[in-house]
Amino acid sequence: MPIAVLASGRGSNLQALIDAIEDQRLLARIVLVASDRPGCVALARALQHSIPTWAARPREHASRDAFDRALFDAVAQSGAELVVCAGYMRIIGADSVARFAGRIINIHPSLLPRHPGLDTHARALAAGDTEHGASVHVLTAELDAGPVIAQARVPILAGDDAERLAERVLAREHPLLVAVTTLFTQHRLRVCDDRVLIDGRNLNAPLQLRPDNHLI
Ligand code: GRF
Repeated sequence: MPIAVLASGRGSNLQALIDAIEDQRLLARIVLVASDRPGCVALARALQHSIPTWAARPREHASRDAFDRALFDAVAQSGAELVVCAGYMRIIGADSVARFAGRIINIHPSLLPRHPGLDTHARALAAGDTEHGASVHVLTAELDAGPVIAQARVPILAGDDAERLAERVLAREHPLLVAVTTLFTQHRLRVCDDRVLIDGRNLNAPLQLRPDNHLI
């Protein structure tokens, strides 16, 4: 399955997808890595693996919509059937989401619906949560609010600070993103309006990533 990855920063989730493809654990081809931050590490990772890239600065476009249009024109031209937002730090406008409705997923470092937005690790600690984690959800025009497909849970330990917690969550993000992308490539996952179907059945609660990296 041809996929496009959107990223803004260090690209460790992108790297997890690249590694899974190269090890033939994930039967997909990354046809484009696109970014709103020319020069970010994610783009360098793509170049190292000869993956086509697209990057532009939002402020050099006439409007937010014009930037999104240019980006999603590039995604459409790449032939991608699935768009994976892996650390893409911009909100995508409703028109562009509609162009790829049900075919854009996002990884977010919290157990949604808890802690949408930024600084999730510090906020989980400040709230006294005993558990934190990551979610992969269907991207909709509303920030971090689309249906959740799967989650990885990470216990909060005594003495955790935001950095340590983020590290443990990130280690679970990588297999989580690979597992959900795999379900798409196997055509087991479909999104109809705001419902997620797995093997043709409604998903009523998010799938959970087991310690052995399988989803249940
Ligand atoms: C991850 O924690 C992801 O969930 C969040 O931004 C971070 C990106 O990390 N949206 P990386 O760029 O994939 O290393």
